[in-house]
Amino acid sequence: MGPSPAADPAGREAARPDAGGLAVAVEAAFHEFFGYPARRLFRAPGRVNLIGEHTDYNEGFVLPMAIDRSVWMAASPAGRPDRTVRLVAVSLGPAEHTFSLDGLQPEPVARWANYVRGVLAILERAGHRLGSLDLAYAGNVPIGAGLSSSAAVEVAVATAVREIYDLELPDLELAQICQQAEHEFAGTQCGLMDQLISVAGQEGHALLIDCRHLTWQPVSIPANAAVVICDTGKRRGLADSAYNERRAQCEEGARRLGVAALRDLDAEAFEARAVELPPLLRKRCRHVVHENDRTLRAAEALGLGQLGVVGQLMNQSHSSLRDLYEVSCEELDLMAALAQSQTCCWGARMTGAGFGGCVVALIERDALSGFVRTVATLYERQTMRMPALYPCYPSPGARPVL
Ligand code: GLA
Repeated sequence: MGPSPAADPAGREAARPDAGGLAVAVEAAFHEFFGYPARRLFRAPGRVNLIGEHTDYNEGFVLPMAIDRSVWMAASPAGRPDRTVRLVAVSLGPAEHTFSLDGLQPEPVARWANYVRGVLAILERAGHRLGSLDLAYAGNVPIGAGLSSSAAVEVAVATAVREIYDLELPDLELAQICQQAEHEFAGTQCGLMDQLISVAGQEGHALLIDCRHLTWQPVSIPANAAVVICDTGKRRGLADSAYNERRAQCEEGARRLGVAALRDLDAEAFEARAVELPPLLRKRCRHVVHENDRTLRAAEALGLGQLGVVGQLMNQSHSSLRDLYEVSCEELDLMAALAQSQTCCWGARMTGAGFGGCVVALIERDALSGFVRTVATLYERQTMRMPALYPCYPSPGARPVL
């Protein structure tokens, strides 16, 4: 029951040797651990955010795209009467974990399993009655790199369970359940961006998501552009970072300004009242308000193919995340500066929560290999650390593969 390239509706994922290998490895592991072949196979992508950082939990705008790096999940309803779930994470060793669907709480030791436990717990709380399951998964979304590896695991398991138990669960609700799992089982008060783009991504497009009205529209990525992930190699977990603190600061700023969320202020209205805030909150809120504005302008420019404009906005976004929101780090600043200094690069910025991880660069497609070589060499020379630079393709959201 190995996957064939034809089984992948997007075509691209299975064409990548590593991804094809992962699907095969996941199915083989499933068979080996559980003694029978998996009934179904699912794929859920990671994401890269082009612009709109730390705006989602302020009910603002984001412009992410799903990427061709994913979590692959082999799954079968196990038919056991005891409501147990057996779980194997192939990329973690493999690691195994068995638990009951009854009385699910966050797991203090096998913390990697909390993404799966959390999704199943929240699904049940939402009234979906599940039964015993066997699951095996692996992924090639780097962990802790700001590319949403945890959202990909959450969305993969939710998609698998939706199909297997034939649940009435629209994409938006599925993403919200995964977000809630992250809040309660991983301790990160994240917004909805990562989970939503993993389920709703569209091939060839980024999505402009309105995080208040929970609506989105596709924005095509022009054919002459390449989106390059520049991984600094620096890792930082979301939960132990200052993420929750930033979120609380934004909420405090909104409260002091008497608005429901920072989304309610445009740049002009904010600047007129900024002095009402103490300096630290003023910096944090200023980033969010202007980032919303940049995101809307970038989405429009991207749709018009005005890549120079998009790039400038990305550069401004990076400066703002570095100086006002203070979620960048030396490695990200260096990588962004090196990318920005290449003539083929329209713009570059840190992507994801920050404190480590990746820069995203928008460059001329024809210049891809030279860009990758030059920036990698310069970065290595200055840090003695080998970065990983690779193009990524705007990919479809989560789906059954078999
Ligand atoms: C993480 C969170 C998202 C979002 C970004 C920052 O990826 O999961 O909800 O807040 O950080 O933009």
